[in-house]
Amino acid sequence: MTVRHFLTLKDLTSKELNQLMLRGIELKAMHKAGEVFEPLKNKTLAMIFEKSSTRTRISFEAGMTQLGGHALFLSSNDTQLGRGEPIEDSARVISSMVDGIMIRTFGHDIVETMAKYSSVPIINALTDDYHPCQLLADMQTYYEHRGSIQGKTVVWVGDGNNMCHSYINAAKQYDFKLRIACPEGYEPHDGLVEANKDRVEIVRNPMDAAENADLIVTDVWASMGQEEEQKLREKAFADYQVNKQMMQQADSDALFMHCLPAHRGEEVTAEVIDAPDSVVWDEAENRLHAQKALLEFLMAK
Ligand code: CP
Ligand code: NVA
Repeated sequence: MTVRHFLTLKDLTSKELNQLMLRGIELKAMHKAGEVFEPLKNKTLAMIFEKSSTRTRISFEAGMTQLGGHALFLSSNDTQLGRGEPIEDSARVISSMVDGIMIRTFGHDIVETMAKYSSVPIINALTDDYHPCQLLADMQTYYEHRGSIQGKTVVWVGDGNNMCHSYINAAKQYDFKLRIACPEGYEPHDGLVEANKDRVEIVRNPMDAAENADLIVTDVWASMGQEEEQKLREKAFADYQVNKQMMQQADSDALFMHCLPAHRGEEVTAEVIDAPDSVVWDEAENRLHAQKALLEFLMAK
């Protein structure tokens, strides 16, 4: 049987992604009802972190425990990866002892190389280019609050970063329209926009982009690894803050999402993210349930 990986949303079919979302909702209900479900008994997930994390680490680790398995936290500083052992060798060795590998790293080529040399599924837990696991949670959250996202209008405000790229893939896979409002010089990859131009457009003015939106999403202005650009980016993104006026441009039922961590007063105001009906906390919690569905899909026999 060929090993399935999850490096981007394109690794699963649209049908599989929709089934996975419904399964995430089911697993959430089972968990809340106290049902014990352990399809990954005696299985191990290696979790390699070359960047910081709160949500991703906790959701994968708790998720593996709940599914009856075990998660192994591997920081690059404490393994030979941090001392330059080749990715190819590491992938071969680690995959010979575990049942799945989750990795958060810098270059997307690193997860691609891992996948090439690994005998078990590789899960991309964020690279400089993509963050597909977050989209599983975002799509589940939208569905739980508003039903199907098919045919809806989603607006991405801010940096054309890893999250934005995953939203472009999501537009294709979950069949929605995506408007991207970003300053000049901070666009998502050209090729990706071009390949999805039937669903994706760049709209420079964020207030124009937000008009009648069903979902507004943003993320930090400086991602992990771009810390020294923070000041420069604060200037470039000054007009790209999600605030109450922008939410008022959107549909009256529009949701706001943010993968977190958030910088209040920068990409989003406290008034928007801390609103009583804000779904960002459900969005964060759904990392657990959505990824349990993914782990089951990739790792259960
Ligand atoms: N959204 C997200 O991936 O959060 P962490 O960086 O805390 O894992
Ligand atoms: N774009 C952000 C997402 C964090 C979850 C980053 O890469 O730092």
